[in-house]
Amino acid sequence: MSLPEDFLQELKYRNDITDVVSSYVNLKRRGRNMVGLCPFHSEKTPSFNIYSENGSFYCFGCGAGGDVITFVMKIENLDYMEAVRFLAQRAGMTMPDTGYDDSMNRLRTRIYEANREAARFFYNCLNSPEGAEARNYLAGRQLSPKTVVRFGLGYSPKSRYSLCNHLKGKGFKENEIVAANLAFQSKSGKGIYDRFSDRVMFPIIDLRGNVIAFGGRLMGDGKPKYLNTSDTLVFKKSNNLFSLNNAKNSGERTLILCEGYMDVIAVNQAGFQNAVATLGTALTSEQAVLMKRYADEVVICYDADEAGQKATARAIELLRNAGIQVRVLTVPEGKDPDEFIKKHGENGGAAFKNLLEKSKNDMEYRLSKLKNSFNLETAQGRVGYINGAVKMIAGLDNPVERDVYISALSDEMSVEKNAISEQLKRVSKSRNSEERREEMKKLRGELSGTGDKINTEHAKYPRGVKAEESLISYLVHNPDKLDFILSRISPDDFVTEFNKRLFVYFKDKIQGGHGILTGISGDFTTQESGKIFGIISKYNSIAATTEAAAEYINVIMEEKLKTKMNDLSSADDSDIMDYLKNLREKKN
Ligand code: UTP
Ligand code: MN
Repeated sequence: MSLPEDFLQELKYRNDITDVVSSYVNLKRRGRNMVGLCPFHSEKTPSFNIYSENGSFYCFGCGAGGDVITFVMKIENLDYMEAVRFLAQRAGMTMPDTGYDDSMNRLRTRIYEANREAARFFYNCLNSPEGAEARNYLAGRQLSPKTVVRFGLGYSPKSRYSLCNHLKGKGFKENEIVAANLAFQSKSGKGIYDRFSDRVMFPIIDLRGNVIAFGGRLMGDGKPKYLNTSDTLVFKKSNNLFSLNNAKNSGERTLILCEGYMDVIAVNQAGFQNAVATLGTALTSEQAVLMKRYADEVVICYDADEAGQKATARAIELLRNAGIQVRVLTVPEGKDPDEFIKKHGENGGAAFKNLLEKSKNDMEYRLSKLKNSFNLETAQGRVGYINGAVKMIAGLDNPVERDVYISALSDEMSVEKNAISEQLKRVSKSRNSEERREEMKKLRGELSGTGDKINTEHAKYPRGVKAEESLISYLVHNPDKLDFILSRISPDDFVTEFNKRLFVYFKDKIQGGHGILTGISGDFTTQESGKIFGIISKYNSIAATTEAAAEYINVIMEEKLKTKMNDLSSADDSDIMDYLKNLREKKN
């Protein structure tokens, strides 16, 4: 995949990284850089940096990094070419003809098209004679025709060939239909058959309006009750939310998080457009970060059963970590939101609104859960509850918040506020030291390289890697020093393969007179780009003088020699003599 160098340069020039990123992330100036909360992992203090001088970003928290193209790939979930196209469009540039084999891209486009056609087909089937039972089913669940249209609901016929035949008739190839996960290859290897049969169909639509997947519900008993599209080229269930396409237009910065498709639809029909649900899995941190883009507050509205309450506890944590305020809505009488709204008939909307208004914030919710688990009639129970509550309160970052809850607890339990504050101090202290221990552990992992997934030799040669990374960063910041470096070290002297590859890459770029950082997002994987921009940012200030560079080179040579010495038994003498001679010559 080769795009002309000057095209890429213009693309980057016209898509200033700060501009592009700031439409997703709230950025603030810090020194020469811009910083913000990382959109790729959950954090409360900003470690996401934009370096406008070299057009790159790097997150010190999760290690994501790259240029404007990598950023778009990650945030919009696109592959390289799609991201380039996205940016070209943004800047009003036409894509050059590359002759690049984009069969993957074509397949992706075909999957979108097949999904759209399938949604249309299911919808038409629902409104055909064959869809009578499904129409009755939906009516029985009190969905209005308007709601059915709004969500594009449909019906997949009984015959296992109906969708396949329809799609083939529209020119789709078997491999495309299978890649969309709309059909299976039959065991005999001959032909394909429909994945969904005799189910009510719920299309899942992404933020750009593409149909990316389906959920299908059986109308009677049987298993599985809901069948969902598995992950495909265009769909990752852990990264998407049902009905976020509707919710994002609700004009509110609050989302209602439900457990299932029918809950979301019922809540919508009752007048709340801002409901979403996960897609047959527990909430993930990716989904929490995604929600943060559209909401400052999430109301969790899970089932009242035990599984629902467990899921609530987990969701509170994930959402809080993503910097979202959380409230918990408890549906009375063990019902789910859909059943609750249905039960209240015409007043469903008002009744649900009342629940929303009454919903507690996450702290109140957790405290009341805790309280229920103790017998407050006994002294022991009271102490247990207070200790547990203090532990929870100690987890709050905001001192005002902490004080409010301590006062409330003191009033509620008729215990001196001072005594509770004293206890809070103790708990916070041990909490802090625990956090510090965790941090040290992480730091140690970083220094020793055990956490490095890209340069897998890092843990084996931590000293060598540090010198190599410093030298590479020095080279990137001082390309005019290439000859100086090459007079002292050659790629084969590098200790680790990844850094050797990287060094050669930059050397070739500089020698070829190309922009050093222009091609990285295309030439390396997203993870590798992250690592590379990490190296460049991390050693930004350290890699300054030629003396320092010479020292890095010495360290690399020493480490390399050590590796040679390590297999002394297997190396023959002449190898070692050669190497030493080489080393001496270079040093001079
Ligand atoms: P529930 O079993 O709570 O169903 O599953 P529900 O949402 O109340 O559905 P109705 O009211 O009976 O129609 C909650 C969610 O879990 C996923 C679906 O996303 C569902 O909406 N699920 C459930 C599956 O993916 N597969 C299943 O077999 C069951
Ligand atoms: Mn239900």
